[in-house]
Amino acid sequence: MTQTLLAFDVYGTLINPSAMAEVLRPTLNEQAESVAAQWRASQLQLAFRRGLMGRYVEFSVCTRDALDVAIAAQDVEVDASTRDEWLAAYSRLPAFEEVDAALASLVASGYRCVAFSNGTENAMQEVLGNAGLAHHFEALVSVDDIKRFKPDPVVYHHLARRMNVAHDNAWLVSSNNWDIQGARHAGLKAAWIHRDKTALIEDPSLAPDIEVERLDELAQKLAKGA
Ligand code: LAC
Repeated sequence: MTQTLLAFDVYGTLINPSAMAEVLRPTLNEQAESVAAQWRASQLQLAFRRGLMGRYVEFSVCTRDALDVAIAAQDVEVDASTRDEWLAAYSRLPAFEEVDAALASLVASGYRCVAFSNGTENAMQEVLGNAGLAHHFEALVSVDDIKRFKPDPVVYHHLARRMNVAHDNAWLVSSNNWDIQGARHAGLKAAWIHRDKTALIEDPSLAPDIEVERLDELAQKLAKGA
């Protein structure tokens, strides 16, 4: 029997981008949360938009441009060196608290685990290395291999091809509702780590096979055969 592949989304699933609010707080005070939230939303929107236009750039460029969008939209003053410090801090974001132990247990149970992100392999290596998670993964699979962004179906097909698994033996594990629907649309299995209670699956025909609140609940659900 071939081993089941678990492909983990990085930002929002393993690594917590909302923690950026703490980095912004000394400068922005009570506006830190809203700028951090807009930064993340704009980062995704710019990646989706560039993907649709066929104008791929590295995800870090979307992150950089999105920070400028958030600064302008929230009308805050930020000097160039502070902006550069914030961008550098993006690679030192923390993991969600249960992630390290949950990954160790999934690897020990015999699952093949890879990280699978819109970020480049170098960006993944940096952020996962800084968070002490990189050693759990057999590979870091980036959309940069084919220069398209999730949730384009070709990137999920690329993941299955590169890891040499059948689609129905490959799971996307993600907290991002758009990623879950993208994976289901491409024929992969999907496990939704439903961290953001305001998020929903807009298209019920692309519902996840498994839904849990935290990553440490996943092993049990997988063992039950979903
Ligand atoms: C990732 C982000 C975009 O792919 O969620 O890691």
